[in-house]
Amino acid sequence: MELKGKTAVITGGASGIGLATARRFASSGANLVLGDIEEQPLHEAVVALRADGAKVIGVQGDVSKEADVVAMREAALAEFGAAHVVFNNAGVGGGMAIGTPKAVWDWVLDINLGGVINGVNAFVPLFLEQNEGHVVNTASESGLVGSAGSGPYCASKFAVVGLSEALFQELALSGKDVHVTVLCPNFVRTRINDSQRNMPDELRGNPDDPMTKLVKKIADDLVNAGIEADEVAVAVEDAIQQNKFWILTNEHSATRITEQRLEWMRGGRPPRAKRFTTPES
Ligand SMILES: NC(=O)c1ccc[n+]([C@@H]2O[C@H](COP(=O)([O-])OP(=O)(O)OC[C@H]3O[C@@H](n4cnc5c(N)ncnc54)[C@H](O)[C@@H]3O)[C@@H](O)[C@H]2O)c1
Repeated sequence: MELKGKTAVITGGASGIGLATARRFASSGANLVLGDIEEQPLHEAVVALRADGAKVIGVQGDVSKEADVVAMREAALAEFGAAHVVFNNAGVGGGMAIGTPKAVWDWVLDINLGGVINGVNAFVPLFLEQNEGHVVNTASESGLVGSAGSGPYCASKFAVVGLSEALFQELALSGKDVHVTVLCPNFVRTRINDSQRNMPDELRGNPDDPMTKLVKKIADDLVNAGIEADEVAVAVEDAIQQNKFWILTNEHSATRITEQRLEWMRGGRPPRAKRFTTPES
């Protein structure tokens, strides 16, 4: 699918990968609906994109709430008369596998997985009906390998990969011109490690806890050494144009960790934690 004249809905569109993709799609002539929970950054993103000539509206909403995602679809239909692409991208990090309160697990899973489910439910029936559409789901390399310090995040991203593969098979069986891509980035320079900015106050842990500080420091170093979100945006557009299922922003790393898991399943050694993986290793 070429994006010129098409309408794309991007969740988490006010920052990072979502915002970079919005810029990219706008430069290709797409109409845009940006959905985000953060009102002011969303407003600023819409103003900046319009100043560059984009046709874009913002819809403030929480992807973990089904009605909010339906409202994003309805806004696209009302403003542009159609929706052709949904980029289920909003996501947050938080918590270790050990000792994370269930309410924090729920927060991460409801956004990272629940948000994708809500996007699929809101848009796929429409896409099938019109026999045209593309779903892009943001997972992560954390959806391909478990790593220390990110239990809920890994659980949510593995689920997004599984959901996307199941959706791929069902869409293939449908015979319709509706497609799905799963985005598995390695580290990208965004605000992902500041996800707590959107966390309800009562869920926030102690930021001075030594383990929390150590995990944050490692994660910050990795994200700061990551690629630019603009590179991911180019890959997202390419996957829609070329109809690719996988987007692996670091193919070497993604395939290597997957091969390591396979070796492990065959009785070999366990894979190294992803946080020690570099593009060169
Ligand atoms: N940055 C990385 O290294 C990296 C790597 C792999 C995957 N990802 C994934 O990329 C996606 C985008 O994250 P990013 O890195 O651009 O981070 P980011 O924090 O810069 O952007 C995330 C956006 O999602 C929004 N958001 C958060 N909760 C929301 C909710 N409940 N409803 C609606 N919007 C919400 C935030 O306000 C923000 O604008 C996420 O799914 C993340 O897990 C990021």
